[in-house]
Amino acid sequence: MKNRSKQITMIGTGYVGLVSGVCFAKQGFSVKCVDIIPEKIEAINSAQPPIYEKGLDELLKEMVSTEMLKGTINTEEAILNSDVAFICVGTPSKESGEMDTVWIESAARDIGKALKKKDEYFVVTAKSTIVPGTTDSVITPILEAESGKEAGKDFGIAFCPEFLREGNAIEDFLKPDRVVIGAIDERSYETVRELFDWVPKETPILKTDLRTAEMIKYGANSFLATKISFINTISNMCEALGVKDVYDVAEGIGLDFRISPYFLRAGAGFGGSCFPKDVKAIIAAAKKANYDPLLLNSVIEVNKRQPLRLISMCKDVIGNDLSGKQFAILGLAFKPDTDDIREAPSIIVIDELLKNNATIKAYDPEAMDNMKQLFGEKVQFTESKEAALRDTDVCIIVTNWKEFTELQPNDVKTLMKTPIVIDGRKTVDAETFLNAGVTYRRIGLKK
Ligand code: UGA
Repeated sequence: MKNRSKQITMIGTGYVGLVSGVCFAKQGFSVKCVDIIPEKIEAINSAQPPIYEKGLDELLKEMVSTEMLKGTINTEEAILNSDVAFICVGTPSKESGEMDTVWIESAARDIGKALKKKDEYFVVTAKSTIVPGTTDSVITPILEAESGKEAGKDFGIAFCPEFLREGNAIEDFLKPDRVVIGAIDERSYETVRELFDWVPKETPILKTDLRTAEMIKYGANSFLATKISFINTISNMCEALGVKDVYDVAEGIGLDFRISPYFLRAGAGFGGSCFPKDVKAIIAAAKKANYDPLLLNSVIEVNKRQPLRLISMCKDVIGNDLSGKQFAILGLAFKPDTDDIREAPSIIVIDELLKNNATIKAYDPEAMDNMKQLFGEKVQFTESKEAALRDTDVCIIVTNWKEFTELQPNDVKTLMKTPIVIDGRKTVDAETFLNAGVTYRRIGLKK
């Protein structure tokens, strides 16, 4: 490992801040992770990641034991002893969908106060996803007011978006498709660029202005979300027009190199902490600036309705009256390999079943504690998929965890009252289930 001279401060030890901090440390930079919650810092310093992310455990242990990474609640001390700070705090949504900059503002205030006392050159880099113009109109003025210094003259400003997928975040950080650095001037750019001297030679490093970099992040997430709502629209049309299987259609579409086969998996829709929030935030920002992005409105609308198709399929099979019927829900997390339930399609499915007075048993390998906080006693959470299936009328698979792909027709035939499986994600093989006498329906598959 190289011992690099630049020292880095990460402000905010959520998913982005902690993963990026640990990865920078792995590349030989000395990293301070700052958070306002002391318990989080204690956990980090005792090498216990406060969030679940594949590989983070081991990497954090290594970086804490080699003292390449330290947690602190003292922003000033961290800033005075480093060269670059990354703002990685959350940007929650307001009721209107608009981005809330409350945490960004307080991070900028804390950094600004420390900058006032700092003699050496320093670059403040935002990494949180923020709508174009936020660095200019929110972060920079606060930094200048608090520090009494001038951006571009006394300190640098940059924006460096993250493109990390939950569950693959460490790999995504260490082997990025590209690095985007938006900066106010050459010196800011070069300072941040130096922190990425380890990326493989073939990795493009884009140099842009601040707003362009901010927009690239929204453009990327909006496009990926659009691709999912697009394939779900094609899927729904396949069902309406009697086309055999949307997955065969997607294969034929995706082989065009201009389209690519990725993100063309039809299903119950996208969830998570990024796509829904980010698309709504950029819509709100555009509308505020008098532009109504019709396409993106539809992306959200298609996605909102998509989980409800699973309910329509149930009704199609067992009739419109779901009251008193017993449902097994397999999969609660917004995607496999995470305990994250934010904006998960399973929430919409459960809500709708409860509205229809159905009873629900649910199972997820990781996300049950989180779901319990949302639904409490209204849903019976079980210890295994088998326990969830026992004596139920209909099974709905919402998340395609690996252990659900191993489900056999016999499992549902022996455990359930009636073997009916509604698959939201092409989790099991349709033919195997249908040939075994299971009533099997799936998004995008001809009935
Ligand atoms: C997403 C992006 O993929 C990352 O590049 C980005 O950095 C991140 O948001 C962010 O802005 O922080 P993530 O939310 O972890 O990452 O999840 P994805 O793996 O992209 O999946 C999002 C949702 O789309 C899931 O609910 C998944 O089931 C759904 N999806 C994905 C589909 O329904 N079909 C597909 O073909 C692909």
